[in-house]
Amino acid sequence: MAWSWRVLLALCMFAAGLHYWPIKPAQSAQASGSGTPWGADYFPNTPLVTQDGEKVRFFDDLIKDKVVAINFIFTGCSDSCPVETARLRQVQKILGDRVGKDIFLYSISIDPYNDTPATLKRYAEKFNIGPGWTLLTGEPADIEQLRRRLGLYIDGLENGRSKDHNLSLIIGNQATGRWMKASPFESPYILADRLGNSLHNWKQATAMANDYANAPEIRPPSSGEQIFRTRCSSCHTVGNREPGQPGIGPDLLGVTRQREASWLNRWLREPDQMLAEKDPLATLLYEQYNRLAMPNMRLGDEEVGALISYLEEETARQQAPLADRGKP
Ligand code: HEC
Repeated sequence: MAWSWRVLLALCMFAAGLHYWPIKPAQSAQASGSGTPWGADYFPNTPLVTQDGEKVRFFDDLIKDKVVAINFIFTGCSDSCPVETARLRQVQKILGDRVGKDIFLYSISIDPYNDTPATLKRYAEKFNIGPGWTLLTGEPADIEQLRRRLGLYIDGLENGRSKDHNLSLIIGNQATGRWMKASPFESPYILADRLGNSLHNWKQATAMANDYANAPEIRPPSSGEQIFRTRCSSCHTVGNREPGQPGIGPDLLGVTRQREASWLNRWLREPDQMLAEKDPLATLLYEQYNRLAMPNMRLGDEEVGALISYLEEETARQQAPLADRGKP
């Protein structure tokens, strides 16, 4: 029936457009002092504590008149949170010193029983989190209420006990009242653009011009390259690492030659398991990389194959000019 196709098509288009959707206030709030319906009367002034032990209030100190990105993490979470944190770290790198000046990043713990300020500080150090990005903890009930207000709350989720939680990142400009949820798979360049340009009403568009030059070049990527860019590049590079910028994970140039195929294959599938079994190489790498365990990315056979081909091809591509130079 023709109409059902149309409904289906409309649904697909709706789903495709869901990457960014505006968040509506739960109540038709009265315009507050700041002239938006998103003032202090919507956002709670939740008391929170930073990784440095400083006491702050959510509305007054963290978001009022600011462009912000907010997500919820817990440091004991081994798969989705490190991926999200690494991605936000990339956003921070792209935005450079604007973070802490006119853009502020916040990661709030949903496991405040375990995430003390000291624990958060260690986590920040692992990810090399710079100034302008604050990690926060507080009273469990307060944080739960804050999550509900921010629309990230999933019913039935207990603090820290469930591995899964809503990873969506909320980005917004409190003064203009523009808020949106960002998909966890959004590229850091797009996120940085939203935070650096769109949410600032394009006033500072030029500030980003240079960073775009550093965006991955546009050429049709292989499927392995595509997976690498979306799921691995927040922690890994393949050659071309900027000097003085240690990555979160090792550079992977040459890794397919350096490691045994069976080791590499298994590592991509279940690094968590290998670490748990105290595989010597896995343990060594873990110690070398700040004791940050590589997350299990739940890769299937095809993805693992595509990634290994990509790492092999990219290594060959980058090493070819060197080999040529040696020839007469
Ligand atoms: C959240 C950060 C993070 C993400 C995302 C991530 N890794 Fe890793 N990876 C690490 C860390 C950290 C290590 C070092 C070992 C450890 O600490 O567990 C590592 C180690 C590795 C190694 C071993 C390197 C060596 O010298 O043998 C390979 C290969 C690798 N990762 C590939 C990938 C691929 C492919 C992806 C994407 C599908 C990926 N990683 C996603 C953090 C990450």
